[in-house]
Amino acid sequence: MIAVTRDVSPSIARAELTHLERVPIDYERAREQHEEYRALLAQLGCEVIDLPGAAAYPDCVFIEDTAIVLDDLAVITRPGAASRRGEVDVVAEALAPLRPPVHITAPATLDGGDVLVLDDRIYVGRSERTNEEELAQLRQLTGREVIPVDLHGALHLKTAITRVSHDTLLVNRDWVDVAPFAGWTLLDVDPAEPFGANAVVLGGTVIYAFSYPRTRAKLEARGIDVRTVPADELAKAEGGVTCCSLLVR
Ligand code: GLY
Repeated sequence: MIAVTRDVSPSIARAELTHLERVPIDYERAREQHEEYRALLAQLGCEVIDLPGAAAYPDCVFIEDTAIVLDDLAVITRPGAASRRGEVDVVAEALAPLRPPVHITAPATLDGGDVLVLDDRIYVGRSERTNEEELAQLRQLTGREVIPVDLHGALHLKTAITRVSHDTLLVNRDWVDVAPFAGWTLLDVDPAEPFGANAVVLGGTVIYAFSYPRTRAKLEARGIDVRTVPADELAKAEGGVTCCSLLVR
């Protein structure tokens, strides 16, 4: 497995915010936490690629939004926030040797954080970042079934629901319509931890933010192996653990 990551931008304090109030972000602390995340990816067997950050792109560490990597191709997105559109160029270049690229084009917008790939199906959150034009493009570009999912109050689909095992999804039902996920086992976040639905599944292990101990206990009670990382500094910029890597199998 390859994990493509990107450095924290020195301008992270100016990151886009949709549902959070702006608070100061400690750049050095954010970098240290991001290095711990990269180290855990490496410990879990990933070859970690580090792309350079850019002061022009405050959100560039959230590399997940720039591409959707499938087994046969990489969809290069057109992010919904205009300030993020230029992030895709460096990522497209890095992915080119790994997967043939296809591109989402205007007027469609799509953030990778809105995309949850479950086996052969692609679920797409209807967020402020991802518009209707994108659904048809994604179907045509990938040849896969693309299923829209309603969101309420979450930045991205994967803020509200992510996969944590072969058959289980971790979910905050206050933020997402779970009807499209019939057939999956749903594990609810602890009500005190609404941001706890974001997890990276890597083999039999889940990478998870340290800040959600109650939900972590629920995962472990299901027999799921959980490895935590500190991620609260980048959480102030509205980013979670999935946001910080693109996994290429
Ligand atoms: N700050 C993360 C985003 O808005 O995309």
